[in-house]
Amino acid sequence: MTFTLEPIIPTKEQSGVDFGAIITDLDLETITPHDFEKLFEAVYTYQVVVVRNQGHVCPETQYELTKRFDPQNIDVYGHGAMHRSTESVIARDISPLPAMPQVQLLGHGVVKDHYGIEERKLTHPSHTVFHQTSLTKEEMDSGLTRFYRWHMDAALYRLNPPKVTTLFGIKNPESRRETVVYGDGTNDKLEVQLGTTAFISGQRAFEILPQELKELAFKTQVKYAAHPYLWMSKAKSRPTGLGMVSEGKELLPEQLPPVNEEDIKIYPMLWKNPVTNKIHLQVHPSAVQDLIIDGKPVGDLEKVRDILYKIQRPSISPENVFAHEWQDGDFVIFHNRGVLHSVVGSLKDTDSRVFHQCNIASADEPIPATEQDFSPYVVHATA
Ligand SMILES: [Fe+2]
Repeated sequence: MTFTLEPIIPTKEQSGVDFGAIITDLDLETITPHDFEKLFEAVYTYQVVVVRNQGHVCPETQYELTKRFDPQNIDVYGHGAMHRSTESVIARDISPLPAMPQVQLLGHGVVKDHYGIEERKLTHPSHTVFHQTSLTKEEMDSGLTRFYRWHMDAALYRLNPPKVTTLFGIKNPESRRETVVYGDGTNDKLEVQLGTTAFISGQRAFEILPQELKELAFKTQVKYAAHPYLWMSKAKSRPTGLGMVSEGKELLPEQLPPVNEEDIKIYPMLWKNPVTNKIHLQVHPSAVQDLIIDGKPVGDLEKVRDILYKIQRPSISPENVFAHEWQDGDFVIFHNRGVLHSVVGSLKDTDSRVFHQCNIASADEPIPATEQDFSPYVVHATA
């Protein structure tokens, strides 16, 4: 007997969520090779797969399972060791488990006697330390929150992005509801569970673009900053968490560790899904330093960010966001090269959340969308 998979049925408010699936009858500790094959296909087909009731899964199993999604991987955590630099915007959010350092502990509140960790105080990332503007304490106490940072899990320097991430929700805070406010001049808002993880599909992000932006995306390459998380460490985010505000706060080359030009990552804007062959718009907006359009660098960070925001903002509109309703024991596997995700929520001191996360940098570059892949989207002028 094999497992069954139920695609997410979007609510009226989430009419654009055409991805995500839930499995309730699979045990990841004893998964068979046949079921793994099926799970592999499912992750690339549905982008985000939630396996319920996995509270018993140990860190070794999470690591081994994550690795099986990319057998050629280079066995280095998705961020390498760079996230440990105390200035990096990643360092404050995660810490490796001593018993299995490829698996990261994250969450909120004090954790005791946890897989080799005697005691650690975890802090759920809050937009108040990353965004240019912030909700007031009163607003947060009344249940308002923001997306923290839309991203894929990737070092974006030297290492290639992990193909999948596994995110294991061991313990969730009490089930309060919150409202994400976008605060970017729109009245957009989204009702979510406290501490939800929000996902958007890169495939839909591409499909909903008007024709001229599809064509622009196809001919554009994305150049990421060297040591991006240090580079951006003093800059601040837009209120939607989708990219940074341009205030000239990025670190200068002399403020960064030495840069090896060959390690700078330049990727196409459109990536091909290796299972469905569909096109995904895949950009980590806050780490971008330049766009190369038709071979020509834009060379102006503010302009680059404005172009990106125009291309990416539609994809995070409320109707396109899958805000997962976590249950304790949910083991989520997502196609890290096919979706963006964001931490969400304003947790209080009394809230507790314990998660394990794992992803592994890949030996493979992302697969670019080719002329042939793009050909169905070419509009031929009529005579
Ligand atoms: Fe992440």
